[in-house]
Amino acid sequence: MTQSNRLRIAIQKSGRLSKESQQLLKSCGVKFNVNEQRLIAHADNMPIDLLRVRDDDIPGLVMDGVVDLGIIGENVLEEEQLERQLVNKPADCTKLRELDFGSCRLSLAVPNEFSYNDAQSLEGLRIATSYPNILRRFMQEKGINYRDCMLKGSVEVAPRAGLADGICDLVSTGATLEANGLYETEVIYRSMACIIQSNQPQTPSKQALIDKILSRINGVIRARE
Ligand code: PRP
Ligand code: ZN
Ligand code: MG
Repeated sequence: MTQSNRLRIAIQKSGRLSKESQQLLKSCGVKFNVNEQRLIAHADNMPIDLLRVRDDDIPGLVMDGVVDLGIIGENVLEEEQLERQLVNKPADCTKLRELDFGSCRLSLAVPNEFSYNDAQSLEGLRIATSYPNILRRFMQEKGINYRDCMLKGSVEVAPRAGLADGICDLVSTGATLEANGLYETEVIYRSMACIIQSNQPQTPSKQALIDKILSRINGVIRARE
């Protein structure tokens, strides 16, 4: 049975958004306990199930209507939308609102010894990234040819490992770049966390619950400003 009377919300299992996503829902009065071993956490006081998954999987789960809501970085959402355009797969979902955490940027970065003037400095070089579609759009707009090095993780070690000349990765504090002897040269996308809803038809009771959660989120964020 894949249809559920309970509202399904996908959140990041572990990573930059997971604590604050849980905290936001708790501040909205959703009572739940997370068991680190478990994919699903059932709320005690509302018909809500939390699905704890990899962040990259969340936009697709929402677009396919597997879950009703998702809390995700705009960067991951944008990447999935571009990917689906490419393969002609429906990429519909509705961004209900931007949230007040998860600020980061997707940036180009190169080794400290690399002399970088502008994005043209990357012509013909290999760039490691987990965001091939956002990178391609940027490089096409600039008319720069480059080669891909697709990595789902450990992107920051690629230049030192001799796998790539530069990287395109998320930067938040900049600590990861610094620790790996890289410096940021170009911001190509700015991102915050956001909450998205599936465009699949909802039952009136589930939609009413979504509206209630959203209005509470608005209140929580207003109170934190
Ligand atoms: C990103 C990125 C770096 C890190 C940068 O990973 O890949 O590893 O954050 O943050 P910093 O500038 O504060 O050091 P993230 O945990 O967001 O996502 P991922 O686990 O999906 O790669
Ligand atoms: Zn990820
Ligand atoms: Mg990472």
